[in-house]
This record gives sequence, structure tokens and C-alpha cells, in this order.
Amino acid sequence: MVQYETHEYDVLVIGAGGAGLRAAIEASSAGVSVGLVCKSLLGKAHTVMAEGGVAAALANVDERDGWRVHFADTMRGGQYLNNWRMAELHAKEAPDRVRELEAWGALFDRTQDGRILQRNFGGHQYPRLAHVGDRTGLEMIRVLQDHGIHQGVDVHMECTVISLLKDDGRVVGAFGYEREKGRFKIFSAKAVVLATGGVGKAFKITSNSWEYTGDGHSLAYHAGAELIDMEFVQFHPTGMVWPPSVRGILVTEGVRGEGGILTNSEGDRFMFDHIPELYQNQTSDDPEEGWRYTQGDRDARRPPELLTRDHVARCIVREVQEGRGSPHGGVFLDISWISEKISNAEEHIRRKLPSMYHQFMQLADIDITKEPMEVGPTTHYVMGGIRVDADSQMTSVPGLFAGGECGAGLHGANRLGGNSLSDLLVFGKRAGEYAAQFAKENGVGKVNEAEIEAVASEALKPFDNADGENPFQIQYDLQDMMQDLVGIARSDDGLHNAGEEIHKLVQRADQAGVGGNREYNPGWHTALDLEHMLTISEAIALAALERKASIGAHSRDDYPEKEEPGAGKYNTVVRKNADGEMEVSREPIPELREDLQDVIEEMG
Ligand code: FUM
Repeated sequence: MVQYETHEYDVLVIGAGGAGLRAAIEASSAGVSVGLVCKSLLGKAHTVMAEGGVAAALANVDERDGWRVHFADTMRGGQYLNNWRMAELHAKEAPDRVRELEAWGALFDRTQDGRILQRNFGGHQYPRLAHVGDRTGLEMIRVLQDHGIHQGVDVHMECTVISLLKDDGRVVGAFGYEREKGRFKIFSAKAVVLATGGVGKAFKITSNSWEYTGDGHSLAYHAGAELIDMEFVQFHPTGMVWPPSVRGILVTEGVRGEGGILTNSEGDRFMFDHIPELYQNQTSDDPEEGWRYTQGDRDARRPPELLTRDHVARCIVREVQEGRGSPHGGVFLDISWISEKISNAEEHIRRKLPSMYHQFMQLADIDITKEPMEVGPTTHYVMGGIRVDADSQMTSVPGLFAGGECGAGLHGANRLGGNSLSDLLVFGKRAGEYAAQFAKENGVGKVNEAEIEAVASEALKPFDNADGENPFQIQYDLQDMMQDLVGIARSDDGLHNAGEEIHKLVQRADQAGVGGNREYNPGWHTALDLEHMLTISEAIALAALERKASIGAHSRDDYPEKEEPGAGKYNTVVRKNADGEMEVSREPIPELREDLQDVIEEMG
């Protein structure tokens, strides 16, 4: 008989980044009991890597902004593959979520007249990102954590969930283990919210830390939920490239928002050569207009460095491939040049970008107030994820909800910077609200003892095989393969190879072994994470093979056109079939509501 302790809640939230915390706060304030599970220590979440700001049309810096412009920008950035209802809710509700956060204690930077200051970011027509220097995500986590704790949410730190438990088609709880002691924990819950973030650790170069192994995506998939648009993985254009030990660490888009420019080894500001047609016809001579691209104009109000991330990342890769890269395989990002424009530039940079200043000073011995940084793309975010109902965030499995990065739909083919933080506030709140409602309307489900025994025995399998392959080696090989074959540039051949490699890695993972015991055993943790990483890697490769076009963050060398003739706009949908195999299909995107179509046309 397997030993475990049991915890019972009305709502269980798995993941304690911004979305999980916001969901837990909402559910708790609806009067239900809430358990919050975090893989790491509370407060350590990828949310803090959204440094430059939270996007909300507060219109504090440019009064022409409003939900309609934000909606149109989000749809355009996502290449109109977005779930438009989510884009509408997001644009309309983000300002209230930001003001609410301020009321709970968030200390945003201020305008001269004391309102929340907003900065420019890629793809946003007006300065829209409410920010706290370059530590916005950190401040948000601090405030949400503080608020959540005082609300009486029960927190389980350093606990990893490895399976969801079901009864009669409905989710009734989760099976987890304590990372420190290796003891099993069973959570019984009337509703479960997944808020586990992204999948970055399946790739070699990433801004994600060790926790981000696609757990929520994989848990949902194995529980019978659908994953959509998994091919859309965001490669943030600017991660550190040197020294090797810090490769991939994020360099916030806030650097470009504050005026940072990208140059190649020849000193050219190469982004001016690659302004897409979609944006060229927005050129205007009026400096007050939202878009203004003028060849070589350093003072451009909307510089081409702030085009969408998918595009900027591809342009950087092209510079490197064509031999115009920086010494360590990136390009240059320079903010120091603003000293030509403002007298107190050094102080301004240190005040607006304090983390970047220290990051480069301490990790690369570079003073960003005086010299350029070397940067290149890094795997940052996945737009694809668990399919949810736009309003309630419930998946196709009753009682299972998803919010934040692991839920999908809002961002379409490419996410605009800053929309992640507003996403997690808007849809974290909604997930918590509707999960609480579900819990009130449904009784406690039955946790099945046989299911617990089966999960436990599978989890302990690596100990039966102490001479088996080291799980870390399997993870490294997966990361190398995903970076090479499923990275920024993809092709049929590469993706077929990736599929074959993943199947080999699945067999190797099945034979992985660990020594020692269950206490403090990172090899064992990695062996368990591999199941999730391999599941989501297969989903990404399969969906990428299915989409024979280059759109948003998905780029195919062999299909450079945006759309396949006659295919229309569709989502890729990955699900487990009756034989337990992963399959992919296409589903047309529902036609845009007429009033929202009018908004897009009006915004040009
Ligand atoms: O560059 C950044 O500060 C990241 C923001 C985001 O991913 O939303």
C-alpha cells in the first residue's frame, strides 16, 4: 500500500505564478477553501521575467488609447488567429485589473501628474505598459503573494503534481510529491485550476528556469483536454548570448521601449530594412501619430526595433546567418546612445532599467550606460496551450480550468510583450471565479485508490532501474534536438526527424534510472519531468508539421507563405485518441463578431 497524506479543498490551484495567485485570490474571495501548489518556493515564477510592464489601455500617456486599440493591436500581433472573445475580454478588463493591483499595493512608476506611467512596447500602438522600472513582474508577484496569503490560501511549496485524478469523466483532484522529502500528497478538490506556465525547458536556449517543463499542458492532455496551436512558441528577440553560462537570460524589451537600438557588426541599424508591408502603410509624417517609420531615423516615435517579437527575432537570426553578427553569435543592443539626446542618460538608464544594469555589470562585465549589449533570441513563452472556454476558462474536461501561459487562445500566432501580465490577471481572475462557482455547484468527487496506486508505482519506477540512463542526459538531448529541429526555422524534414527522435527519447526515458532514495533527489525529479517535456515536445512538433505556412512565431523554410491556399484561418488541435495516441487536426476559427470586425476596420 502506498503511503500518502491527503488534503481536501473546494478549489485546488496548481502553479503559483501570477495566474495561479490571481485565481487563488478570486476563488478564496468567493468563500471556498483553496489550496495552492507551487513547484518551487512561493514567489519564484516566470512572471518575474515579464520585466518591462503590464499592457493595459489606461490611456495615461496617450489619451487616444482605449480597449478598442488594444484589442486591434493584440489581434494584429496574433495574425488574427487569436480567440477574439478572449482578446475582447482581455482588452476591456486589463485596466481594472491593473488599478486593482495598485489598490492592493503595487508601486508603479508615475507620470509627472502622479498617474501610472506607461511605456512603448513592441506592437502596441501607444505607450501602454504600466511598469515598475524593469521589475514589473516581480512587483506583481510580491503584491499578489501578499494579498493571497492574507486571504487564507493554503500554500504547498516545493510540491510537484504528476497526475490529475478523475472520476466519471470529471477531475476530482491531483497526485503530487514533496520535492524535499519525496513523500506523496493527494489533493482532493471539486475543481482544479492549472496555472503552471510554459514549456521553455524543452529547449536549449531559454529565459525559463527549471520549473517550466510543460507540466500543466501535459497533465491536461493526459486527462483528456485538448491543446491548441502548440506550434506557436515565442522566441524573445533579446536574450543574453555571452558568457555561455548565462545564455538565454532575458534582456527586457523595456530596453528597446526606452530607446535601445539594434545594430549589426557593420554598425547598421538593420531593422529599418525589414519593415513589413502591414506596418509600412501606417507611416505618417506627423510625430504625434502612433506609427512612424522613417529610414534611418533614430528619433522615430515607433522605432522598428519595436515591431513584433516574431519578426525581430527572425531578423536577428538572418543577420547572424549572413555573417553580420556580433562576436558571440548575436547582434548589438545599444541603449547608451541616448546620451546624445538627454543630459542625464546614465542616471536615466540606471533608474528605468536597474535590473538590466546590474545583470550585465555582474554577469558580463558590461556597463550598459556606456557600451552595447550582445543579444540573440531565447525561448520565452508558448502561445499555444490548453483549450479553454473564453469566459469561464474551463477546459473540455469538467472541473478542470486553466489560466495564464498554459491556457491558450488570447495571443494567436504571436504574443505582444506585456500582454502576458495582463492575460494572467484577467484570466487568472476568471479561472478562479468560475472554478469557485463549479465547486459550489458540484459535490466532492471520489478519488480512486487504484488510480493512486498506479500513479505511485509508475512514479517510483526509476528507482527499480538504478543502472538505467541518467535522466539529465535525456533532457539535454531533448533540448538540443528541439532547439535544432523545432526552433525558429522549421521544415518538413526537420519536423519528421524530430518526431522520430522524440519517440526514441520516450523509450530512453522509460528506461531511465536513478540511485539514492526519495529525499532531495533531483535526478528523480528530472525523470518525472521528462514525461511532461516529451509530451509537449511531441505536441509542438506535430502541430508544427501540420501548419504548412509561416505565420507569427511559426516559421517554415519550406512554406514561406502566410497561408496555405484555400485553408482559411484555423487552430491546430492536439488530443489523445481512443488508442492513447497523440493526433492533430485543424479546426476553423469562428468568424469574428461583426462589431469586433468593425473595430478592426476602424483601427486600420
Ligand atoms: O521583455 C520583457 O520585459 C518581457 C515581457 C513579456 O514577456 O511580456
